[in-house]
Amino acid sequence: MAKISYVNGRYVHHAEGAVHIEDRGYQFADGVYEVMAFYNRRFVDENLHMKRLARSLAELHIKPPMSAKAMRMVMQELLARNDRIDGTVYIQISRGVAKRDHHFPKIHDSSIVMVITGAKMPKAKEVREGVSVITCPDLRWARRDIKSISLLPNILAKQAATAAGAREAWLVNDKGIITEGAVSNNAIINSKGEIITSPKDNNILGGVTRETVLNLASKAGLKIVERSFSIKEAKAAKEAFLTSTTSNVLPVTRIDGIKVGNGKPGTITMQLLELYYQHIYKQTGKRWS
Ligand SMILES: Cc1ncc(COP(=O)(O)O)c(C=O)c1O
Repeated sequence: MAKISYVNGRYVHHAEGAVHIEDRGYQFADGVYEVMAFYNRRFVDENLHMKRLARSLAELHIKPPMSAKAMRMVMQELLARNDRIDGTVYIQISRGVAKRDHHFPKIHDSSIVMVITGAKMPKAKEVREGVSVITCPDLRWARRDIKSISLLPNILAKQAATAAGAREAWLVNDKGIITEGAVSNNAIINSKGEIITSPKDNNILGGVTRETVLNLASKAGLKIVERSFSIKEAKAAKEAFLTSTTSNVLPVTRIDGIKVGNGKPGTITMQLLELYYQHIYKQTGKRWS
């Protein structure tokens, strides 16, 4: 079955999908995006993702290109037209096409693109043994809570991680505080078993996985402390992990080459992963072996 994407009202062969050269997403990164996972053709935490998308649009005063209901219908139609059981949908909305000028165009029709891809989930070995992260300066703007398509600092950090053979880059501000990862949220666990994670404010993207995992942790009676933590504290932690739509809960066992705890995935981290698997199972019927 050919890969079909959605571009501004049309279902097209993926290779033929195109937007205008004066699209503000292309020229200014003036847009937002969302990534949602699906298993057995059912989306995980669809409502939370749609809520975050609406918020990102509102914060930037970008007119939604269609109602949320219509967007969900397009997502379903794409699932029907693509031969994928498990995967992700990428949704990008920009302020649309206008003569290049920084200020907002008086009238704008937002552009929308949706693309279905295969799930790029962590390898079994990464889950079993944990992954390495490096630390990098956080070079981003002050509104990291918006899921903006302007991702240059994230790209540079992720590239540095890849070049260093690490899975992710943890971003550090000028006070030595780790905000989040280039493409994920993160948390550490101290010797008292407390899960410490950056508060949901303008310094981080409020991850849907983060929110879900914290809810599951709290229901399981685990102690959560939402406060910032330093590189020093992270390197002395008992356990560490990262979360994202495409990583689930992934144990972090090395930070800048230094072992976290005993260098193996921690028990609380693995408990959270199991709870998250059950959460996905309840919504989609997907089993992880
Ligand atoms: C900077 C950043 N933080 C956190 C996340 C995790 O968000 P979510 O759990 O909604 O995928 C992402 C995911 O793309 C991200 O890019």
